[in-house]
Order: sequence, then structure tokens, then C-alpha cells
Amino acid sequence: MRATWLTDIHLNFLRPVALEKFYARVRGEQPDALLVTGDIGEADNVARFVGELAQIAPTYFVLGNHDYYRGSIRNVRYEVSRIPNATYVGDARALTDHVLMVGVDGWGDARCGDPSSPVQLSDWKLIDDFRKVRDDRDARIELLQRLGNNEARALRDRLARAPATEELLVLTHVPPFPEACIYADEPSDDAYLPWFTCIATGQVLREYARSHPDTRVTVLCGHAHGIGVFAAEDNLEVRTGGWPKGVDDYGNPLVQLTLEL
Ligand SMILES: [Fe+2]
Ligand SMILES: [Fe+2]
Repeated sequence: MRATWLTDIHLNFLRPVALEKFYARVRGEQPDALLVTGDIGEADNVARFVGELAQIAPTYFVLGNHDYYRGSIRNVRYEVSRIPNATYVGDARALTDHVLMVGVDGWGDARCGDPSSPVQLSDWKLIDDFRKVRDDRDARIELLQRLGNNEARALRDRLARAPATEELLVLTHVPPFPEACIYADEPSDDAYLPWFTCIATGQVLREYARSHPDTRVTVLCGHAHGIGVFAAEDNLEVRTGGWPKGVDDYGNPLVQLTLEL
């Protein structure tokens, strides 16, 4: 099975001809499945883009922060749950007879780096859920931590329900460890880390890997827009997708990798 991984493709930045070209490039990978780790579009077009990808191959995806822009988390999640040939991945499901896949969006949960960072995210202006905390740093951090906790709880429950497996593939948007948070070939600095790492899901993944030493866990994530591989445990590897240093990110979606599973 050929599974082609895409992340942070931000298709809303493409004009129709560039979009068709990108789809042709994806088709050229001859995928049996697409794995998409978020930041596909924005609230009013993410479902359309997922639907178009799903015409290329069965599409398994999670959402990123940008997918909620100009909308709310709840509404976008509902909308993308009903697209033919596409699965918003949550509970574990078999991808092949020896690979199980589980998904969770993750959220930058303000638990590492510098919480008084001057870096401001558009999320706080453009996602409805942040409306009440927009101008209140403490309330914003509390909300970010709550969102991270919700993601971690969902992931923990999904892993608890998952059957035993040789290989587990985890689709998530936000890097679950600071070491996996890469930009321009370098680890992200303290000003970006709080918004670009989901410490809560990282803890759940580490616990799972330690208590399942016979399972090889591979995490696919994005969000930080750099490329990296981080071995968090002997059996837990995190692959962060993005762009090499100096290459345009927005408006220039890449195929990250086609995995032979
Ligand atoms: Fe992104
Ligand atoms: Fe993102």
C-alpha cells in the first residue's frame, strides 16, 4: 500500500491552475491512500479541498489551526466528518493488516518555551473560540492548555480502545515534543515553542510507547513548517513535515513522502 503524506498544504493560497498542478503531482505518486496532517485550507473551504483530495485516493486526515480560521472548532469538525471517501481520523483503524492508524489534531498548549512570548498568532483573531480571550494573555494561555488537554484526553481514550498492533501510525498536526518543532532546519526557539508544541499529547504518546514496547509508533505532524525526525523513545519516532530552509511555504504545497506500508 502506497500512502502519500501531505501536511500544511494551505490550498486556499493557490489559484485554480496551481491547485490543479498540485493535485496532478499528488496523483503522480500513485497513492492508495492520502495521509494529511492538517492546515489544508480554512473553515469555509477545507471540506471542499478534502473532497477534492478524496477523489485522488481515500483520504485520512486531521485538522490544523488554520482549518478553523473564520469559523469555530466545533462547526468545522462537524462539516468535515461527512465527506465521501475521506475520514477525519480519530479512533484507531487498520490501514493495512499490520498498520493501525489513530489521529488527533493536537493544539499548541503553551507548556514549553516562553509563555510571555511576543509572538502573536492569527489563531486568536480568526478562530471564533478565541473571541473572548483575545486581549487577555492569562485567559488565552488557560484556553490553550484546555485545548491541549482535550486533545490529549481524546488521544488517550483512542489509544486505550485500540487493539494491539505491530505498527501504529499517529496523524497529528501539532508537534508533540519541542525537539520535533523544527523551522528552517533548526529547532524552534523559545518564542515559538509555546504555540507550536502540544506537550499534553506528547506525554500520552510517551506513556503509550513505554507501555507497548513491541509496538513501533510513528507520528506524522506538521504545523511548524520545517522538516525533522525526532526519536522520542526507542519505539517512538516523530516525523515533522514542512519545507527545507529558504523554500517558500505558503502557496507552495509539497508532497512530503510516499510510504510503502
Ligand atoms: Fe501550517
Ligand atoms: Fe498549523
